[in-house]
Amino acid sequence: MRVVLGVTGGIAAYKAPELVRRLKDAGADVRVILTPNAARFVSPLSLAAVSEHGVIVDQWGDPERGGVDHIELARWAELLLIAPATANMLAKLAVGIADDALSTYAIAHRGPLMVAPAMNTFMLAHPTVQSNVETLRARGVTIIEPDSGLLACGDEGAGRLPDVPLIIERVRAQFGTRDLEGKRVLVTAGPTREAIDPVRYISNRSSGKMGYAIAEAARRRGAIVTLVSGPTSLPAPPVEVIRVTSAQEMRDAVMNGTHDIVIKAAAVADFAPVEVAATKIKKQEGVDELTITLRKTPDILAELSAKSPRPFIVAFAAETHAVEQHAREKLQRKGADLIVANDVSDASIGFDSGENEVLVIAKDGSATRIAKAPKSVIADRILDLCVGLNASDRHETS
Ligand code: PMT
Repeated sequence: MRVVLGVTGGIAAYKAPELVRRLKDAGADVRVILTPNAARFVSPLSLAAVSEHGVIVDQWGDPERGGVDHIELARWAELLLIAPATANMLAKLAVGIADDALSTYAIAHRGPLMVAPAMNTFMLAHPTVQSNVETLRARGVTIIEPDSGLLACGDEGAGRLPDVPLIIERVRAQFGTRDLEGKRVLVTAGPTREAIDPVRYISNRSSGKMGYAIAEAARRRGAIVTLVSGPTSLPAPPVEVIRVTSAQEMRDAVMNGTHDIVIKAAAVADFAPVEVAATKIKKQEGVDELTITLRKTPDILAELSAKSPRPFIVAFAAETHAVEQHAREKLQRKGADLIVANDVSDASIGFDSGENEVLVIAKDGSATRIAKAPKSVIADRILDLCVGLNASDRHETS
């Protein structure tokens, strides 16, 4: 487990060295980011000693080392835990202010975020603070509720950072799920590109973020993951990655294997040019129109559903209107076990966004709405639903 611990400037920051030590006892590798105010309460040196790594306080990193610390760290981390989190940090996280090393890192971070608010009880009860906590919770952030008792300032009430073992328990719960241990999960992600000539192609706006998040979540839950990826600019998670370009190549990669679960988050082109010009198509004097004849690409999902035995199949539906109705039709037509519908007319979710909001419909007609959240959170919820339907036993029994 690779944890970035963010510490902000509250009296409870004194617990940070113990938190690092206990995280390490639980098997975590821990890197620490302190806000400059936290560094008034706890010394970077003691945290460096206990974590056995350098501690980041300065947003601008070390110019000698080159590279940008927060981006490098985001490639490495599996969890960001902010404890204690002050009212100021909650506000920054809620609206996306990035003006110190920790708040900047929080925006670069891709995995789950756990936040332990700790402050004076009246500050905690302030409507702004409460509304920021609710904003974060709605976004899928795990809030570790503060304890009640006598506070350092002499007031009594809620606001204390929970005891370190309790925080460790929450972190373990987040990471303890190995419910896909040993299961073979194939995930498709990203767009396909259908060539017109050597320099042009037909494609779509898929970034691959949704599929990559699912691949990473399945890996963390113990699955043996194969990621079949169309062209994307995302860093590959530590799983087997098969890179493909066209729908035909994606079909070959998907059909060529035995898996327990197949999750098809890729946006596969439905049509491809019948002929691919061998050389770049040139403009011709007096010719104002160009006709390209397209042919249907292989329907990977339908072909996979017809296989026997076949894996548990999760389809996606990218819709711009009548989302639920179209998704239900697609679920039937394609013969999948679950379909994850997203409204791609909403620019804040779906294609190339960090977040998504989906309706997951099962074969028996039941539907689960997953509220807007980072794709990493949506990924875990989709896997929860697969596990709930015994997806991983499916291909042995069918
Ligand atoms: O990649 P991101 O930027 O993170 O965006 C995520 C996403 C919007 C691409 C993703 O959430 C999503 O909706 N993926 C499915 C997009 C899509 O192609 O939907 P569709 O409704 O056209 O296709 C339905 C299903 O059939 C999909 O599971 C698709 O993978 C599959 N399909 C489509 C065509 C084809 N020839 N073969 C297929 O198997």
